[in-house]
Amino acid sequence: MVNYEYLTKEQLINELKEKDKYIYDLKKANEEAKNYAELKTELFSIISHELKTPLNIIFGAIQLIENIHKEQENCKYCRPLNKYLKTMRQNCYRLLRLINNFIDMNKIEIGFFKLNLTNNDIVKTIEDITLSVVEFAQAKQINIIFDTEIEEKIIATDSEKIERVILNLLSNSIKFTDSGGIIEVYIKNLEESIVIAVKDNGSGMPEEMLEKIFDIFSQVDSSLRRQAEGSGIGLFLSKSIIEMHGGKIYAKSKLGIGSEFIIEIPTRIIEDSKVAEVAISAERRIEKIHIEFADIYS
Ligand SMILES: Nc1ncnc2c1ncn2[C@@H]1O[C@H](COP(=O)(O)OP(=O)(O)OP(=O)(O)O)[C@@H](O)[C@H]1O
Ligand SMILES: [Mg+2]
Repeated sequence: MVNYEYLTKEQLINELKEKDKYIYDLKKANEEAKNYAELKTELFSIISHELKTPLNIIFGAIQLIENIHKEQENCKYCRPLNKYLKTMRQNCYRLLRLINNFIDMNKIEIGFFKLNLTNNDIVKTIEDITLSVVEFAQAKQINIIFDTEIEEKIIATDSEKIERVILNLLSNSIKFTDSGGIIEVYIKNLEESIVIAVKDNGSGMPEEMLEKIFDIFSQVDSSLRRQAEGSGIGLFLSKSIIEMHGGKIYAKSKLGIGSEFIIEIPTRIIEDSKVAEVAISAERRIEKIHIEFADIYS
């Protein structure tokens, strides 16, 4: 620390000049970092959209081949063709999921990710998506139990985005639970909020990871040899979505025992607005599950 009291006038001028230069350099570095972050976001956005177009074309072509092939009964190449078409479709889903997650992650970073809030029944949203996943979990011999304290609760949410959060929690639980495991989804009705929890008896996580897992690209096992696939974006998106609803999400876990993810959403409603009927077709919901679960059943 310089003691300015004992400096000559000349020394004082030099000292101030140096400080000025330091501030100037700092501002310049800050500006450069901002420009760099903007460039990175723009590049991410361009790449994501550019990847989506050819992917949609490949996906469309696969569907066409599947349709043509369906009519050819007992053909010589039926078995290998079906097998390879399935692999191609599955990997399209995986890419689509990654690209969608990248696009949304980017939108959140630049503040373009918006909620489409309506008054709707959150119990039905959670129940419908949970029940649609039961069959997929059973393919891995995992049972899903759904339990709720209330039959109906109308609150203001973006039901598609809430559904996405629950899908990510369920896909995580399925990914990190061995066959024979159990996943419980339950809803609790508190005075000013509604609590939704997804609990499994899977691998669990170390205590020090419980907050970090909500950061972008954060995974307990980030080695290339890890058992489960994924890119560590899901919980970052989930946390952002829940916080945009004014709620919170956190995890409890014990290594080797299991994990529990708890969401709390305030029970607000939009005044003077009708209750919206959430009308996601069964087909669209199944497609979403295929995309979200693409890493699990590859
Ligand atoms: N139920 C769970 N049991 C054990 N570990 C979990 C569980 N849920 C999440 N994790 C840990 O948290 C990490 C981050 O989860 P997140 O959903 O963000 O990413 P991911 O599933 O790896 O990838 P993706 O972006 O495809 O969702 C996981 O990689 C895993 O290490
Ligand atoms: Mg995930």
